[in-house]
Amino acid sequence: MALSFVPPRLTLDPDVLVGNETHDDAGIYRLTADQALVQTVDFLTPVVDDPELFGKVAAANSLSDVYAMGGVPVTALNLLAVPEGVLSPQEVGAMLQGGQSILDQASCRLLGGHSIDDNEPKMGYAVTGLVHPDHIWRNSTAQVGNLLYLSKPIGSGVVIKAVKDGEASQEMTQSVIAMMTTLNQAASEAIKTVGDPTACTDVTGFGLLGHSWEMAEGAGVAITIEASRVPVLPGARELADQGRFPSGSRRNLDYVRPHLDAEPKIGVNTLTLLADAVTSGGLLFTVKQENAALLEAAFRQSKIPLYWIGWVEEGPPLVRVLA
Ligand code: CO
Ligand code: CO
Repeated sequence: MALSFVPPRLTLDPDVLVGNETHDDAGIYRLTADQALVQTVDFLTPVVDDPELFGKVAAANSLSDVYAMGGVPVTALNLLAVPEGVLSPQEVGAMLQGGQSILDQASCRLLGGHSIDDNEPKMGYAVTGLVHPDHIWRNSTAQVGNLLYLSKPIGSGVVIKAVKDGEASQEMTQSVIAMMTTLNQAASEAIKTVGDPTACTDVTGFGLLGHSWEMAEGAGVAITIEASRVPVLPGARELADQGRFPSGSRRNLDYVRPHLDAEPKIGVNTLTLLADAVTSGGLLFTVKQENAALLEAAFRQSKIPLYWIGWVEEGPPLVRVLA
């Protein structure tokens, strides 16, 4: 979910375990004492030219919110907007095929969908997952003393802009596509081998700083990030140093700025990179310090990346950025 307005409070039903009050990643509705539905919807305009790759990114991005809540995706419905006569049936087929291949990886069944004629292509999925009501991963429950981890590099906004401007190297293009088409499934499974994180979300449209602020605000804590520990995609640092951001990155920084306490020596380009909007980003989560060694071992064993980027301190709620 990415809401910049205050939606109406929908319901007081006690089975609504996660509604729209805490800006969490998905809604959760309890079915029985040991099973709850996780529901989320996301769709995107094309981030890459290749229709099959775009379909993969759209699917991985839509599934991510289920993993971010600790859930397992079960079914999906496709959302598709296609400019009639602009995209060929083959291209539309490739988009859907790309999405299907990612749903298959997630063992998530496609049950149907809906398409409309629109000026700009858009694609995504409404995804339903399952989670045990006692093992929901919220974004608002980080605890003082926890460590903060991230499972994928940031910087996709700046790199995608360079790709669209025809200024990205092959390595930059391949890395950003690999990042965006990687499911958060393996990261979520690695976390589960250790137990529930104290809080979890995924890094998407509001960028690392924006989603960290949601965590800080939700739990009333200060989140400290060491900028030098934050992983960035190949080329992102150099593009940031030249200030070549999409306009959304600066808007993201403006939005989070009142809640930031950054060391003065950290330049505006570094902060803007940290605020850069991410598409299909990694899991951002907190764990108790005593679980850190086991957690890092679980990720090493699964051969998936994990980056320790900060920790949680007592409030007032803010995001502190150290060099
Ligand atoms: Co979302
Ligand atoms: Co999310």
